[in-house]
Amino acid sequence: MTNIMKKDPLMEKYEEETGKLAIWKGEITKDFRKWKEKKQKNSIKKQKSVTLKSSREAKKEMKKLIKEDKDVEVDYEHLIVVENLHKTYLLGTTAVAALRGIDLTIDKADFVDIMGPSGSGKTTLLNLIGGLDTPTRGKIFLEGRNISMLSDNELADIRKERIGFVFQFYNLLPQMTALENVMVPLHFSGKLSRRGKRKRGMDLLRLVGLDERSHHTPSELSGGEQQRVAIARAFANDPAICVLDEPTGDLDSKTGILILNLLRDLNRKGATFIAVSHDAAVSEFASKVFHMRDGKLSHEGKVGGLKETEMMELKRKQEAEMNKEKCKSKIFQYLFANQGRTEIKVEEIKSSVPGSIVLNLPIHFNDVINEIIEENGINGKIEGEILILK
Ligand SMILES: Nc1ncnc2c1ncn2[C@@H]1O[C@H](COP(=O)(O)OP(=O)(O)OP(=O)(O)O)[C@@H](O)[C@H]1O
Ligand SMILES: [Mg+2]
Repeated sequence: MTNIMKKDPLMEKYEEETGKLAIWKGEITKDFRKWKEKKQKNSIKKQKSVTLKSSREAKKEMKKLIKEDKDVEVDYEHLIVVENLHKTYLLGTTAVAALRGIDLTIDKADFVDIMGPSGSGKTTLLNLIGGLDTPTRGKIFLEGRNISMLSDNELADIRKERIGFVFQFYNLLPQMTALENVMVPLHFSGKLSRRGKRKRGMDLLRLVGLDERSHHTPSELSGGEQQRVAIARAFANDPAICVLDEPTGDLDSKTGILILNLLRDLNRKGATFIAVSHDAAVSEFASKVFHMRDGKLSHEGKVGGLKETEMMELKRKQEAEMNKEKCKSKIFQYLFANQGRTEIKVEEIKSSVPGSIVLNLPIHFNDVINEIIEENGINGKIEGEILILK
């Protein structure tokens, strides 16, 4: 999960080297600025002297320097900056101007929603921001890097490492289980061991409340559940931004709201989203709303609408506590109705509780069961996602 307060690698390097803090009381320190300037000057000097050498080693050193520079070049003001973006498609001899000068900035932990009629250019814009296509004119900066000029291979790397995608029709692989689907991006990034990947996959499924359905294939899951798997998959490589094209487009309105609740929870934990949709409900959950018409972005709606204030956090926590009580009474009713059974799957118990309650609980669902067991002196425990009763 993207953390809002995450320091950039250069700051971390500074703190490691000097033992001082790069950010103090929310502000970047003077010492850090000076240190950074010096570092940049030295880096340029070093590069110049390396260029003069021209031996094989010098080339090697140069490569290393360039790599180092790439690693530290993360000083950016906004997560995404879109400048005067144009996209024209050529259909035979006809030119279709899908985007006609878009300007947009997105910050970490924003939840941006773009609304607009069919054909207004929403998907085109998302595809450009997500690195699926390149613009005809204009620039896109992602984490300070201009991605509008990159080669296909470089864009593929950006997509793999920095962008998460969620589409209207989930796009899960039908023959694979939920867990295997979530693990697909982990195979491509190749950073984790086999065990590490499984663990990360299960953690991601837990994040969307589906850890108990890990072995189910898409056809055994509802539309909303499939979309939750797709969301888990989008977060596999800890993307800078998650791009959502009509995320609730194929769902009934109630399930759509559950998905939006989940997105809002993830957003509160620091995830950044850009969504496009026809669904007005999406804008209710967004922090910035834009309208798109004929390839132009117009009229910014609310700003900061659902960025969590202290009051909202308090309310959410109260709601979660209330949900816990509701959840307990539902579970209790279920256990009461199933007296005499010695084994009940946790998943079965969970299905007796409305999803809207399960999605906003202060603790894990299993721990709610554990509390009931303790409080009521029930002789039972959860083993391998099954409640064993004696
Ligand atoms: N690959 C393409 N080739 C040619 N024209 C295209 C292509 N993709 C989109 N267009 C055109 O560009 C315009 C914008 O399309 P886009 O798909 O971005 O709209 P949209 O707002 O996402 O619409 P919808 O709400 O229906 O999904 C439309 O006129 C569309 O016909
Ligand atoms: Mg579209």
